[in-house]
Amino acid sequence: MNIMTKHYINGHWVASVDGREMAVENPSTEERIATISLGGPADTDAAVAAAKSAFPGWAATEPQERIAVLERLMEAYKGRAKEMAQAISQEMGAPIALASTAQVGAGAGHLKNTIRAAKSFAFEHPLGDHAPGDMIFHEPVGVCALITPWNWPMNQVMLKVAPALAAGCTMVLKPAEQAPLSAMLLAEMIDEAGFPPGVFNLVNGDGAGVGSALTAHPDVDMVSFTGSTRAGIAISKSAADTVKRVSLELGGKGANIIFADADEKAVARGVRHCFNNSGQSCNAPTRMLVERSIYDQAVETARAVAEKTEIGPADVEGRQIGPVVSDTQFNKIQYLIKRGFDERATLVAGGLGRPEGLERGYFVRPTVFADVTSDMTLWKEEVFGPVLVMTPFDTEEEAIVLANDTPYGLTNYVQTADKARARRVARQLRSGMVEMNGKFGGAGSPFGGMKQSGNGREGGAWGLEEFLEVKAVSDWE
Ligand code: NAI
Ligand code: MG
Repeated sequence: MNIMTKHYINGHWVASVDGREMAVENPSTEERIATISLGGPADTDAAVAAAKSAFPGWAATEPQERIAVLERLMEAYKGRAKEMAQAISQEMGAPIALASTAQVGAGAGHLKNTIRAAKSFAFEHPLGDHAPGDMIFHEPVGVCALITPWNWPMNQVMLKVAPALAAGCTMVLKPAEQAPLSAMLLAEMIDEAGFPPGVFNLVNGDGAGVGSALTAHPDVDMVSFTGSTRAGIAISKSAADTVKRVSLELGGKGANIIFADADEKAVARGVRHCFNNSGQSCNAPTRMLVERSIYDQAVETARAVAEKTEIGPADVEGRQIGPVVSDTQFNKIQYLIKRGFDERATLVAGGLGRPEGLERGYFVRPTVFADVTSDMTLWKEEVFGPVLVMTPFDTEEEAIVLANDTPYGLTNYVQTADKARARRVARQLRSGMVEMNGKFGGAGSPFGGMKQSGNGREGGAWGLEEFLEVKAVSDWE
């Protein structure tokens, strides 16, 4: 078992001043795999002070200089990809194949896209021909608190750390307490890459402790947060007293609109996508809306896919889905499945309890409910487990109304062979992203939501802009 109770502050791993110990658990086995320290106010203050004193120097570097260090970080990240996959797989339960590919790959991809965006970004430029002499500067926001969740740890950490570094900000990262090992490994790589001390700091802790201390801290200029809408609201309120910039990536309840003319794999693809990463993705297509003429057939397909979905421990090579991250999440999901029964949704596959043969570990049965109506809890609440709800629709207009009938607005999905219809629908969906016919967004495409899914945009040039202030200077020439 690993004792990992130090924080990374001002270029060194230092003992916690006022933290308390917490076990990091492997959700496949429920065994303790490491001990970290949940930091206290003194730890938080030390990290913010380091970031504050490093800021003027780092902010004054040329973008090329920052990009060069990011490229060294890229080499370190590639070199330790296997270790990173192990860390992610063990801390949050992603099967090793998924951890090695999508989970680790997302971190590498975001780093690469950030470097690309930074290379072509105009950090300073004239206002325009109509205003000779006026200059516009894009300057780093300052000291950033980066608060991340456990479901796609390197995806979310890298979407914040890489652009913050490229922009010239300094930072304190507080990774999710359930999944801190990957972030601590990244901190080692950042150390190896040679960023100046204090530019990047990592303090472990929970939301009530380090999380709240960071969001209220007078020397923190910006909070970038990914996680629950509940925490996003608390963070916004806490940050308001000192007028911090707050960038939020919150939950989702994505609709997957499947028209009768969709390609024949659309339903199976949608079910698998919902179950991917054990359903723990903010952009998961969790509400499947199916045109009535193919609804019964779609329900049967969903049943077959759910029943065929293998489930098992994360260290086994294969395409199974792993456990969910924790006891808390397991219980939340069980509660929501029970609500499905209580509210009389039609169970198609899965249900309550652990899958047969898996008594230990937070394994949830891949579950499908049909005939779920918009008054039901399972329609409204993000489950964050392998639970799909299905409902029929008759017209395009009805499908759009149903899709938008949620406080969330992260990603919606459209499946149809009719290009004109696909475009019509995409324009009317109130979400930051629309994925059509199984095609993912391109490299550096902006990731983020509308409504209660948040206000941030991460990835590529948009991700960089989040960490930059705009300064206008007259009579420059
Ligand atoms: P959470 O939002 O409580 O935790 C995410 C991060 O925020 C962690 O680092 C946590 O320590 C921190 N945090 C929590 N409260 C905070 C506060 N008041 N101030 C500052 N930092 C705070 O999410 P949790 O409890 O782990 O999961 C609950 C639900 O949230 C999930 O079931 C899911 O519905 C949603 N969620 C959504 C995610 C997304 O990717 N959008 C990621 C994780 C959870
Ligand atoms: Mg929490």
